[in-house]
Amino acid sequence: MSTHQPRPPSGFAQIFGEPATTWASAPGRVNLIGEHTDYNDGLVLPTAIPQRTTVELCPAKDGRVTVYSDELSEPGTTLSYLLGEESPTGDWLDYVRGVTWVLRQSGLGARLSGLRLRIQSQVPVGSGLSSSAALLVSLLRALRIALALPLSDVELARLARKAEVELVGAPVGLMDQLACSLCGPGAALFLDTRSLAMRTVPLPAALELVVIHSGVVHSHVAGDYRTRRRECEQAAERLSVRSLRELDESVLPNLDALPAPLGRRVRHVVTENARVEAAVASLAAGDGVRLGELFRQSHASMRDDYEVSVPAVDLLVSLGDADPDILGARLTGGGFGGSVVMLAKAGCGLVAARRIASAYEAQSGHCPTVLVPGLPGC
Ligand code: GLA
Repeated sequence: MSTHQPRPPSGFAQIFGEPATTWASAPGRVNLIGEHTDYNDGLVLPTAIPQRTTVELCPAKDGRVTVYSDELSEPGTTLSYLLGEESPTGDWLDYVRGVTWVLRQSGLGARLSGLRLRIQSQVPVGSGLSSSAALLVSLLRALRIALALPLSDVELARLARKAEVELVGAPVGLMDQLACSLCGPGAALFLDTRSLAMRTVPLPAALELVVIHSGVVHSHVAGDYRTRRRECEQAAERLSVRSLRELDESVLPNLDALPAPLGRRVRHVVTENARVEAAVASLAAGDGVRLGELFRQSHASMRDDYEVSVPAVDLLVSLGDADPDILGARLTGGGFGGSVVMLAKAGCGLVAARRIASAYEAQSGHCPTVLVPGLPGC
């Protein structure tokens, strides 16, 4: 897929006293359907959003990585650490530490002698739209250029995930890093996380996507995501399968034999994989009504069986479902807050999103953001 690159940013020299030599960017992603399936070897269907993270850098010789984030740094201050001393401290700098750590681990960091970095991100943190993967992938892309690293886009995504899992400590699957590394606008990536078979699925011009951030932020370093992962592993062990992907819908009548809540967790994963396949077929047929129905079923499954929604997100989804121009709405991403993706009739997305966001704000007291206002054909 194509990688849309915006114009290079400026202002680096004001922060570091010398110009950037390299820059790169990566988009956030929205997952259309296929949630909490990636770490169960399952199916996912993400696409890129217009919001991107951009990294500029210049090499240094002092053995330090010195970082400025337009969004997260105190104005006029930088944070830094010594290369080789990448122990996590639980703050956003861990994502940068993760990248230099993973390059050294994999033998690709030998030529790193220090870095100055500036990060600018349009992807809101904790929005379920992969701000962390966009940062990891954009930084790895910039370093791939600066150090002439022989890395494919898939290898780069794998390194990004290793950094997030092993150094940052968030036990995520591979969807986000692959989506940020491979997705472009106008098409979704139908990805089988077991075989890594993938193909692009064009999004019909008669449909639009709308993404609204609920204003409730989440973190996957926190316990709930980890708990869901562990529950899936426990269920797979009890059912004597390597992963829940080995199961199909014929297992559903037997799930009561599992101790609660494992049966419900399995039901979500098994039915969600089937919904991804059905969604791909609906997109190919241009059947927005069916796709909308699948969005609704997916949300109900995440809310009731997987229990990763929160009341504010359920309210936003129900306002979307009740809107005449919305065909279906669902929580996207890891959950426990974050964003809702809605399928709109072409040409109606922006007005519907504004209507829904303002009703949501009035009823919930949270401050929503319309992030993808009717992305055409996407
Ligand atoms: C987060 C993780 C992904 C995936 C989703 C849920 O975004 O980073 O790996 O598990 O949650 O689908």
